[in-house]
Amino acid sequence: MGSYDDYKRRVLEISRRLSADGYFGSKSGSAGNVSMLVEGENAVLITPTRLQYDVMTVEDICVVDFDLARIEGERKPSIETPMHVATYKVRADVSAVIHTHQTYASALSVLNEPIPPLFDEVTLAIGNMIDVVPYALSGTRELHDHVARKLANRCHCYILQNHGTLCIGTDLDKTFTFVELLEKSAHIYMQALATGKPVTVLPEKTVAQLHAAVIARQDREIARKEERRIARMKTSRAPEPSH
Ligand code: 13P
Repeated sequence: MGSYDDYKRRVLEISRRLSADGYFGSKSGSAGNVSMLVEGENAVLITPTRLQYDVMTVEDICVVDFDLARIEGERKPSIETPMHVATYKVRADVSAVIHTHQTYASALSVLNEPIPPLFDEVTLAIGNMIDVVPYALSGTRELHDHVARKLANRCHCYILQNHGTLCIGTDLDKTFTFVELLEKSAHIYMQALATGKPVTVLPEKTVAQLHAAVIARQDREIARKEERRIARMKTSRAPEPSH
């Protein structure tokens, strides 16, 4: 038993669901990757590289620190580990990252086509835009640099040009929902574009209001994490009670 087994189980469970639902592009392959951050530790749990999800076990999930040094696990972590870690460094509100090869969002990735704000419940969940991160080869520094720059828009879903997607959130369950909302939006947007008719988007004022709510939610999460960090520091510095 390792010290991160409960977290590893969560990563494995979500990875298997994503795979079974076809979000990795095939139901039997090893594409895509999933990670979560252990709050207060800078420890990242991440799926191993090139291992099918249907044979993956709890022991296969890797644990690395922010310098990509191995904390636990025998397997080699995903080649996209630097992209996941860069995301946690840049976006303090984020504690879960999912990279998929889902079909409709991937279709937009080869059209280099961002998804505008189409529905209010989607915009309130994932922000005002699903933007495209410029292409760079999988696993390269160039790719994670492109991603890190794009994360400044404070949204929760991104299309990786000619590759797939990146969804980020406060935990794995919410991030799984963002994956679903992204696929729904991409599917509908593709169908709508295919008619050749103009696509209507949400009014600008509504989009601004909804995006402000997304940013306020992220700021509350950042403040919550900071409060807990300070509380942990105080506890670790507290003197031993004298008898
Ligand atoms: P890994 O198997 O190393 O996680 O890579 C899969 C992938 O999707 C690369 O972008």
